[in-house]
Amino acid sequence: MDTTSREPLSSVAEYLGQQETKSLLRFLTCGSVDDGKSTLIGRLLYDTKRIFEDQLAALERDSVKHGTTGDDIDFALLVDGLEAEREQGITIDVAYRFFATEKRKFIVADTPGHEEYTRNMATGASTADLAILLIDARQEILPQTRRHSLIASMLGIRHVVLAVNKIDLVDYDEAVFHQIVSDYAEFSASLEFATVLPIPMSARFGDNVIHRSAHMPWYTGPTLLQHLETVAVDNEYLDKPFRFPVQYVSRPNLDFRGFAGQIASGKIAVGDPVVVAKSGKLTRVKDIVTMDGSLTEAREGQAVTIVLADQVEVSRGNMLVTPEERPEVADQFQARVIWFDANPLIPGRSYILRTECESVTANITSLKHSIDVHTFAHTAAKSLAMNEFGVCNLSLQAPIAFDAYKDNRITGNFILIDRFTNATVGAGMIDFPLRRAQNIHWQALEVSKRSRSELMHQKPAVLWFTGLSGSGKSTIANNLEKLLHASGRHTVLLDGDNVRHGLNRDLGFTDADRVENIRRVAEVARLMTEAGLIVIVSFISPFRSERQLARDLMEAGEFIEVFVDTPLEECVRRDPKGLYKRALSGDIRNFTGIDSPYEPPENPEIHLRTVGADPELLAVQLQTFLEQQRQAPDDHA
Ligand code: ADX
Repeated sequence: MDTTSREPLSSVAEYLGQQETKSLLRFLTCGSVDDGKSTLIGRLLYDTKRIFEDQLAALERDSVKHGTTGDDIDFALLVDGLEAEREQGITIDVAYRFFATEKRKFIVADTPGHEEYTRNMATGASTADLAILLIDARQEILPQTRRHSLIASMLGIRHVVLAVNKIDLVDYDEAVFHQIVSDYAEFSASLEFATVLPIPMSARFGDNVIHRSAHMPWYTGPTLLQHLETVAVDNEYLDKPFRFPVQYVSRPNLDFRGFAGQIASGKIAVGDPVVVAKSGKLTRVKDIVTMDGSLTEAREGQAVTIVLADQVEVSRGNMLVTPEERPEVADQFQARVIWFDANPLIPGRSYILRTECESVTANITSLKHSIDVHTFAHTAAKSLAMNEFGVCNLSLQAPIAFDAYKDNRITGNFILIDRFTNATVGAGMIDFPLRRAQNIHWQALEVSKRSRSELMHQKPAVLWFTGLSGSGKSTIANNLEKLLHASGRHTVLLDGDNVRHGLNRDLGFTDADRVENIRRVAEVARLMTEAGLIVIVSFISPFRSERQLARDLMEAGEFIEVFVDTPLEECVRRDPKGLYKRALSGDIRNFTGIDSPYEPPENPEIHLRTVGADPELLAVQLQTFLEQQRQAPDDHA
């Protein structure tokens, strides 16, 4: 990327700094590249005369080199050239651009229009006041416009501009414009936007963007810029209760302890009382430190380090808040989720949930319904595919502090991350905490796991066998249990086929059912370790994610993953239950290895290759491993 594009950013920051007193409008543009999105943003930046000279020079050069617009400046190139400043950090492509006029300053989030647009749009939209929806005047309202509108509405955007672009290509025809406007009005009625302003425009030629068009005397409304400069948006974050998510604890030396982060909402002054959200501890603000020295007060958006009057425990992810209006603290809540990933969201599967400053493991405990993007109707759903929306309950490994999204879009917002690929797979907006979580407490038990297992002279363990059907899991597991039993160990064997006759008889072999199958067995295995037992689990358990979930439920060192590694051809050749034959002839569907995936373990504690091996010997090897591991000195024994 060219280096000249770095300079303007600091100039812009400086420039914005000089303009503290002007109000700020954050907006985003939605539409595909073909709708003229980049051209529109380029036109806005160019016509507001805030393009810096060096960028302009580079732009003119590039336009001559690559442009598709003859001698005109190609505005799309301008915007794409600014991509270097895109937000780093999460795997999301959103470029933020800054400009200002006499009346207002602006931040525009430019979200690329390719197929993963929901992901980018949701990121750009989560702080926006207004959305510009671009529509090509030559086309009808497309499903993606509906989807963008729904996302905008779900994300709490209150103002919409319907930019009916390329109006020059339909001869500035008033009838075409009115048709699109009335179609849009019909379907957007239920989305509860505060304002929807349709504007006929040609971004390429600048009609009605900044300057009023001479081609459309029939249009009497404001130009785009006039509207952006005047639309009433209150500074919602300043008027909200004080929220300070702690990003890190700053301890440069023994005498100083401060909490660093960005004020999400409200304001704070030295001497003000604050509460630590999760513990409820009350204290006062002693100092507000910044790079340029101490402040007496600070407000939303500012990055500061807060020093407290008392030594209270605050770790990363906790929040300092105003005592009068506290956030929720809970480990279960209902949320609306937008799904971005090619792999569907599956209830029961665990993901990493990341808020402003905290990451926890989260499970979708139930998917209540999905929301149809065309009709906005609620439909029963078992999973969410890419670009789908749903309402679900989530359960977290530890409580977090949050607000309902309708009250605070920063502290009520989260993303979901795949635990293996680290991709951002979804975004969510919290509706409310689930009170049921608060009414169920842990019962303190007098006889502990340790005392139970000590009575049996053993340490609990879970030997988790995973592998294809017919790989030999059950045979080896069975041999192992016989050996352990004979040597006086207290064991239990949970076998897929058997458990599916009882506890899991309601489950089939879809991905969602397999996830639930393993979730339940993992919970059962955990209970059995509480009983002090050595638990042998023999399930195909085809997905890494659920095996990780099982591992996470157990204590460190307790979970032993045993990969029973038999090549598919060998399983097909053995075919002990005749199931491969039926699967290959299409008689059984969703069969693991045939038309349903198997994800082999990457780092199993034990890797057993069964071809040419004796299952009884493999069991002996396992027993030896277990006994040796158990004898190893550790603080548990
Ligand atoms: S898992 O994938 O959910 O872990 P589980 O171990 O409980 O599977 O059950 C697998 C057993 O169910 C297989 O050993 C086989 O006997 C039987 N089975 C029936 N249909 C299927 C199928 N479509 N895929 C895999 N196994 C199946």
